[in-house]
Amino acid sequence: MSAAPLDIQALPALEPAQAVSLAGTLAQMDPWRTLGYGVESLALGLQAVHPDLTRYLARRDGETLGVAVVRHPWLRGAYIELLAVLPGAQGQGIGAALLGQIQAAWQGRTDNLWLLVSAFNAGARRFYLRHGFRAIGTIPDLVIPGQDEVLMRKLLPHRRLAEPASGAPPV
Ligand SMILES: CC(C)(COP(=O)(O)OP(=O)(O)OC[C@H]1O[C@@H](n2cnc3c(N)ncnc32)[C@H](O)[C@@H]1OP(=O)(O)O)[C@@H](O)C(=O)NCCC(=O)NCCS
Repeated sequence: MSAAPLDIQALPALEPAQAVSLAGTLAQMDPWRTLGYGVESLALGLQAVHPDLTRYLARRDGETLGVAVVRHPWLRGAYIELLAVLPGAQGQGIGAALLGQIQAAWQGRTDNLWLLVSAFNAGARRFYLRHGFRAIGTIPDLVIPGQDEVLMRKLLPHRRLAEPASGAPPV
């Protein structure tokens, strides 16, 4: 029997109970565990309503398997603030599907997709490289002392080459 289709929804914010439950799982997963993120701050990132934030939830048969948070505008682009596929669901293409949906949502509207990945997170770095992100630079000690974060960028197709109209806000 084939698996039920993956459903990915874009939402302004998660319900508080769902945010806390997901945050509890994320806090026990790397990179967040090593970086010392607490349940409270992770839950806030998932549930706080903010006009710049969009959350993406990947579900199959009603079960949440993955989550992403995207901030726009950010440095002439959109910044993937969080991307996670829950343990047990990893390696099945759900991360790729979330990235694909994020890219589809933002391409044509902005020029860059950005993210930070911990230098120690070799699997995720490989994953992003495979999906067209390139390392731009390393930021030492950004989250905790002794751990580097790597800034990665993906140039989106159909970049606007013209200068922004005068008076347009910086994006
Ligand atoms: C990185 C992550 C988002 C990729 O999502 P995914 O659904 O597992 O990825 P896909 O099935 O689409 O692709 C698998 C690829 O992810 C990478 N990967 C990273 N961690 C992995 C894991 N624990 N299990 C399987 N693949 C993993 C592998 O490089 C694999 O590529 P390969 O086929 O060349 O070996 C996901 O594994 C995850 O949430 N990991 C833990 C949290 C994390 O590191 N998030 C990124 C923070 S910047």
